[in-house]
Amino acid sequence: MHTTRSHSATGRLGVLLPGMGAVASTFIAGVLLARKGLTPAIGSLSQMARLDVGSGPDSREELIRNVVPLADLDDLVFGGWDPITRNVLDAARTARVLDREHLEPIADELEAIVPMDAVFDRRWVSRLEGVRVKPQTSKWEQAQALIDDIARFRVQHGCSRLVMVWCGSTEAYHEASAVHASMAAFAQGLKDNDANISPSQIYAWAAITSGVPYANGAPNLTLDLPCMIEAAAHHGVPVAGKDFKTGQTWMKTLLAPGLKARMLGLRGWYSTNILGNRDGEVLDAPENFKSKEVSKLGVLDTILEPGQYPDLYGHIDHVVRINYYPPRGDNKEGWDNIDIFGWLGYPMQIKVDFLCRDSILAAPIVLDLALFLDLAHRQGASGVQEWLSFFLKAPQSAGDTPAVHDLFVQRARLDDTLRAWAQEHAAARERAVVEHA
Ligand SMILES: NC(=O)c1ccc[n+]([C@@H]2O[C@H](COP(=O)([O-])OP(=O)(O)OC[C@H]3O[C@@H](n4cnc5c(N)ncnc54)[C@H](O)[C@@H]3O)[C@@H](O)[C@H]2O)c1
Repeated sequence: MHTTRSHSATGRLGVLLPGMGAVASTFIAGVLLARKGLTPAIGSLSQMARLDVGSGPDSREELIRNVVPLADLDDLVFGGWDPITRNVLDAARTARVLDREHLEPIADELEAIVPMDAVFDRRWVSRLEGVRVKPQTSKWEQAQALIDDIARFRVQHGCSRLVMVWCGSTEAYHEASAVHASMAAFAQGLKDNDANISPSQIYAWAAITSGVPYANGAPNLTLDLPCMIEAAAHHGVPVAGKDFKTGQTWMKTLLAPGLKARMLGLRGWYSTNILGNRDGEVLDAPENFKSKEVSKLGVLDTILEPGQYPDLYGHIDHVVRINYYPPRGDNKEGWDNIDIFGWLGYPMQIKVDFLCRDSILAAPIVLDLALFLDLAHRQGASGVQEWLSFFLKAPQSAGDTPAVHDLFVQRARLDDTLRAWAQEHAAARERAVVEHA
């Protein structure tokens, strides 16, 4: 008898979110409304996109969710941790992303989702004062407390599987140190309360060692560490990071490939934003903005390859700014001034003014990362899932070559991976039919 790795998605999938603020509450609200049939899941590839399958005369476009076994929206259960949020309805009201007409039909369900006390340390997010924080001061004990939370959640909600997506604040910038060099060093560092271990690293460690796939939606230094890569391989867990690709960086990964396709030169790219939500307030601290800046700046070089095209992209001034401006709330405005040059070097300019809604763009990405990581886990994939780079601003490479930033190449790789799994799944279904006949 044949076996297949294409295990179906039976049972409930628990989606655990460290950080239950604007993005997390908007994501949960959207899923609850979608499963009541009150709105389509706009912006979500897992729910709306189609994939080319079959070949020759059999070639056709099918919804992704019809050709790979994704968890059904009805089977999702939500939980998480937050040092401030009392419940998800409260978080949604504070964030002021969604109107009353969207919150009212699901208010009771949102209110019933109460975050667990967080592993939180102000040294990493100086602008926030945590009040719902775990009492443990030893990092080892904090990790054990999270592992216990995960196990309890699984049983209490009857989940057959779990995934975790970091939707918490951006932590202060820091670099890898000796404590991150291996699993053994990290475990020892937890016991020694090593100052280089951040809260997000403790969550990721708890998830991975509990066999739970983890995605990093912020620019934090979390999964891009040898200890986490080793742990993901050791526990057979897929991971994906980092930083949701939503507004300005998404635009950049659309426009830059276009310039390169035309062999037009780029002299400078100045990006500035105004943003008034809690994320903007956290990023107003220079040490937290530094994490975001590094994550945003990497994009152009890998797309434009200045080494290959020095005449076109050898001297680019790339500047990124975020300004905290409370009146704007979650409705960020991002300006780009792009200095390009063409035939004979004559200069031209492109101006982009993107009036976006941060959490509206991020929410479907949380859904897709959760569902695709869960699929990857059932497919037997582990370690860095480079095919999910499409959703991420600073995608992590699974090998020695740098990760690709070009949105269209990323989408092709995502489709290739899903197509291969769709074929496996179709073959398994055909075998099952033959065996039953
Ligand atoms: N919205 C977007 O377009 C977008 C894009 C890329 C990345 N991000 C990142 O996603 C994250 C969430 O954004 P948001 O707008 O929801 O921010 P937010 O401030 O509304 O929510 C973040 C929540 O994380 C909580 N938190 C902080 N430290 C925590 C910890 N140690 N454990 C658990 N919870 C913790 C905060 O209390 C807050 O409620 C941020 O890091 C942001 O930079 C957002």
